[in-house]
Amino acid sequence: MTAAATRKLFIKTYGCQMNAYDSARMADVLAPLGYAPCDSADGADMVILNTCHIREKAAEKMFSELGRLVPLKARKARAGGQMILAVAGCVAQAEGAEILARAPQVDIVLGPQTYHRLPELVARASRAAGAVLDTEFPAEPKFDTLPETVRTPGVSAFLTIQEGCDKFCTFCVVPYTRGAEFSRPGADVVAEARRLVALGAAEITLLGQNVNAYHGEAPDGGSWGLGALVRALACIEGLHRIRYTTSHPRDVDEALVAAHAEVPQLMPFLHLPVQSGSDRVLAAMNRRHRADDYRATIDRLRRARPDLALSSDFIVGFPGETDEDFDATLALVREIGFAQAFSFKYSRRPGTPAAAMAGQVPDAVKTERLAALQALLRDGQLRFNRSMVGRVLPVLFEKRGRHFGQLVGRSPYLQPVHAAAPSDLVGRIVPVEIAGVEPNSLAGVVAPMGTA
Ligand code: 5AD
Ligand code: SF4
Repeated sequence: MTAAATRKLFIKTYGCQMNAYDSARMADVLAPLGYAPCDSADGADMVILNTCHIREKAAEKMFSELGRLVPLKARKARAGGQMILAVAGCVAQAEGAEILARAPQVDIVLGPQTYHRLPELVARASRAAGAVLDTEFPAEPKFDTLPETVRTPGVSAFLTIQEGCDKFCTFCVVPYTRGAEFSRPGADVVAEARRLVALGAAEITLLGQNVNAYHGEAPDGGSWGLGALVRALACIEGLHRIRYTTSHPRDVDEALVAAHAEVPQLMPFLHLPVQSGSDRVLAAMNRRHRADDYRATIDRLRRARPDLALSSDFIVGFPGETDEDFDATLALVREIGFAQAFSFKYSRRPGTPAAAMAGQVPDAVKTERLAALQALLRDGQLRFNRSMVGRVLPVLFEKRGRHFGQLVGRSPYLQPVHAAAPSDLVGRIVPVEIAGVEPNSLAGVVAPMGTA
């Protein structure tokens, strides 16, 4: 039973979809205590900063946000109320003790593995003298104790199937902040997917830091890889689209390739980070694959699903990266042809091996390389989007668009598509003839049914 919502909860989420999903779960966990989400920290009874450590100056950003919240907390106290301040996520995991030392107004610090304990921590904090720090990795899987998702997931839902990572890329904090790789049992995933579909989801994106390393317990006692899990999910009536993110090139096995060939619900779009096109840099990153292995994997996938569109992550200016190494990245981009991509300047994450490597690249060089890479990637994206003009694509409408009478949905290739359409088409897959390309989306006209 959900208590009447009497308290206001504001969650500020940084980072990836995984964190957005965690925020939604925290809201779920707190709903029975009467907390309902609101959209401003001002006047809130509880504020959670759900932090992300992966890039940039995450900790500094969080401290400056805390600086803005402290006066709001004081104002609430003067009015006779209480604002519980919590810091969650990867920064909390990595720097919990420092947060409490530097920002004594913070009541709760909790790591990614301990969300199910939030109600207890909140109860303690509202009584507490001292602040509460909980960033231990528990032995038991956290998923066992979380309540089921209670709020309507929308047309397109996210489902975490795996957490943590054992790959230890030398630039990355995830293995330290999120811990060892852990996969949810297949039956739990299927049950949660059924629930999401019953609540109205037509598309599910399976989430995990290293999602295709998935190896969950199968209902027969064996083990399911991601390919087998996708096949099981494809049997759910009403689940029309399945996606997954983020993958590692090393973990694309034959079963997953075969799923791309044979499971029509598995969408022809794959985010497969390569990071660099230079074997020297890939080795220093401990990526465990060469550029040619990536090319070969893409070939296998494209043979299975010729219309597969690709996305990737890139890091420029990794320690020791020369102009030649960077050229190899540009060459790889030209060769593969990405439909979209994310690219970042290398950022030193304390405690990771690359942070201590010789040959750190000056920021001006990183800036220059990033601009060159992004120009190339933008061209590729534009070319890909333009190739859609005149085609009829099946679009899953998700919500109203910015303009009156307009809906926005996604193509199979994850492009946002907007078109004039009645709102009863939300949740439906509708043929849309693509008429134009905008910087980050497509514009189309609803076509007669049966044409996509
Ligand atoms: N510096 C720059 N980019 C990074 N990423 C992860 N760690 C770093 C770092 N230290 C990027 C990688 C990864 C994506 C999620 O973030 O490209 O795939
Ligand atoms: Fe980080 Fe991804 Fe490498 Fe794991 S595979 S260490 S999450 S970059």
